[in-house]
Amino acid sequence: MIRVGVVGLGYWGPNLVRCFSELADCKVTAFCDQNIDRLLMVKNRFPAIQPFDNYDQLLASNAVDALVIATPTATHFQLASKALKQGIHVFVEKPLARTVEECQQLIELSDAHQATLFVGHIFLHSSPVAKLKELIDSGELGNINYISSRRLNLGPVRKDVSCLYDLAPHDISMMLYLLGEQPVSVGCSGLAHLNEGVHDVCNLNLTFRNNRMGMIHVSWLDPRKERVLTVVGDRKMAVYDDLDQEKIKVFDKGVKTPAHSSNYAEFQIAYRYGGSYSPFIQEREPLKSECEAFINSITKGQVPLTDGRNGLQVVEVLDAAEKSLFNGGGQIRLNSVAVEC
Ligand SMILES: NC(=O)c1ccc[n+]([C@@H]2O[C@H](COP(=O)([O-])OP(=O)(O)OC[C@H]3O[C@@H](n4cnc5c(N)ncnc54)[C@H](O)[C@@H]3O)[C@@H](O)[C@H]2O)c1
Repeated sequence: MIRVGVVGLGYWGPNLVRCFSELADCKVTAFCDQNIDRLLMVKNRFPAIQPFDNYDQLLASNAVDALVIATPTATHFQLASKALKQGIHVFVEKPLARTVEECQQLIELSDAHQATLFVGHIFLHSSPVAKLKELIDSGELGNINYISSRRLNLGPVRKDVSCLYDLAPHDISMMLYLLGEQPVSVGCSGLAHLNEGVHDVCNLNLTFRNNRMGMIHVSWLDPRKERVLTVVGDRKMAVYDDLDQEKIKVFDKGVKTPAHSSNYAEFQIAYRYGGSYSPFIQEREPLKSECEAFINSITKGQVPLTDGRNGLQVVEVLDAAEKSLFNGGGQIRLNSVAVEC
């Protein structure tokens, strides 16, 4: 039985406490928040779990085998490294850390202390994304031309990180997973209307090998909530709308251009307007599947899809995007060009 502790009981942490509490192979034995009001609020809901208002005291208590870190991004590295040094398995909410160097150090610590390092890229544990991956890998969509993604809403606005670091990890993690590789280069533009230096709207362009690209639009300043990812293949196209009951729709649509012709009259583009269908998806709460994957990585030694390396790959893209954002929006080449994911 793995003893789990949850650190950070703000907006997201209590969901993690609930999900881990409902799993069979683990028991939530402790939680921690430096904010006493948050601690007491969650303590009322889960009275049997030991509360800590100090992280170091939790570490010294020997009350946990694994820790889940759901605190602001800037704190991830310090909290995770302290736990890994004690051989405690660590689940860090997205993004894994603020910089590439911090991610690399966490991976080294996890290797050195033989402790699992897991990152909360929740969509890689969701059934619709697994279905999309199946559609791509089976060849049903053909060669992928591009993937576009929109993650928009009115808030919730953060002050500690931009919408790039807050929202885009979800879309980046899905794109790398679906295409199976890192982009070659990344460009990003955006604006900070609400808090100086903290961008509230961003547009990312990811260039992949073989003439493929990804576009990501994230915003806290939009009138409508949208969570839509579109995969355009040269045989079929698929749309994943996380807010729709039928989360995935596959469209038998496409465009065929004729072989090169110098005669304008012979140049006829053929549009295919076929039907569409929604594949059956066995729905399961993604957060529950994610928590289970973390426990399985500890008890069964299964390498999770969202291990430390996966966390690093996403932060590499975020890091390049931020460089582009603060330098006029041009494409920044990634150091680990075209590493397969
Ligand atoms: N997977 C998802 O869909 C999802 C959704 C929301 C948030 N998140 C992630 O979860 C993390 C937390 O986000 P949130 O929205 O809950 O933030 P939040 O600001 O609402 O809560 C963070 C909590 O951490 C506590 N905290 C900060 N430093 C601490 C420390 N050193 N020791 C103990 N407690 C400390 C704060 O008091 C606060 O209660 C972020 O990494 C965020 O990206 C993930």
